[in-house]
Amino acid sequence: MLMREATTKVIYDLQSVFYDKTFAALVKRHIETAITHMEIRDTDVVLDLGIGTGASLNFYPHNGQIVGIDLSGGMLRECRKKMREQHRTNVMVLQGNALDLPFADDSFDHVFISHVISVVSDPFLLIREAQRVAKRGARIIIVNHFQSTNPVIAKVEQWLCPLCTKLGWRSDLALADLITRTGMQIDYRYRLESIDLWETVVVCNNKSMVEAMVA
Ligand SMILES: C[S@@+](CC[C@H](N)C(=O)[O-])C[C@H]1O[C@@H](n2cnc3c(N)ncnc32)[C@H](O)[C@@H]1O
Repeated sequence: MLMREATTKVIYDLQSVFYDKTFAALVKRHIETAITHMEIRDTDVVLDLGIGTGASLNFYPHNGQIVGIDLSGGMLRECRKKMREQHRTNVMVLQGNALDLPFADDSFDHVFISHVISVVSDPFLLIREAQRVAKRGARIIIVNHFQSTNPVIAKVEQWLCPLCTKLGWRSDLALADLITRTGMQIDYRYRLESIDLWETVVVCNNKSMVEAMVA
């Protein structure tokens, strides 16, 4: 495991005890709305990358199969509590690294990446792993803060980045870089408010575009 992932694991093990009352409370509406955009069917299999304490479990339907993966045992302990409280039979979680997924190619109908892309050491590899395990035409839904396109705000975000890194994420990830380096094809994107720190990006897993980039 990379040094950064080892540190992240410790940071989120510590945050797990107050995560639901702090960050999860701030972003729950974004998670809820993004999940409704998946329109999960009975036969669908959903992968939740970096599922954390399972803030998303409050919004997934009881149909379909949900698979969650996370580095942090502490975050997963909270997630498993919710699974028991909600009598979830359609959710399974495992501890592992989203940058090296233990799943076969073309396994999932939806991949959900909520507030994880700016936490991992290599956001481009995270997207490439999502593209690999998602079926052709599947949806990859990313909820995250991206660097502002306003140069002044972007500079402030860059300046704040060392502080944010101590809390376990970076503030200077630009959506344009992700698009260029992964070939991901955005179906649509939205913010819940006109001024909103978080954006939801819905990607159609266009494998041929990705294959062309690799070739
Ligand atoms: C900010 S939390 C987001 C949790 C949840 N997705 C949410 O929106 O509430 C980031 C999560 O990503 C997990 N994480 C970070 N790097 C990871 C990696 N390489 N593989 C798997 N999980 C990772 C952390 O352990 C943490 O639970």
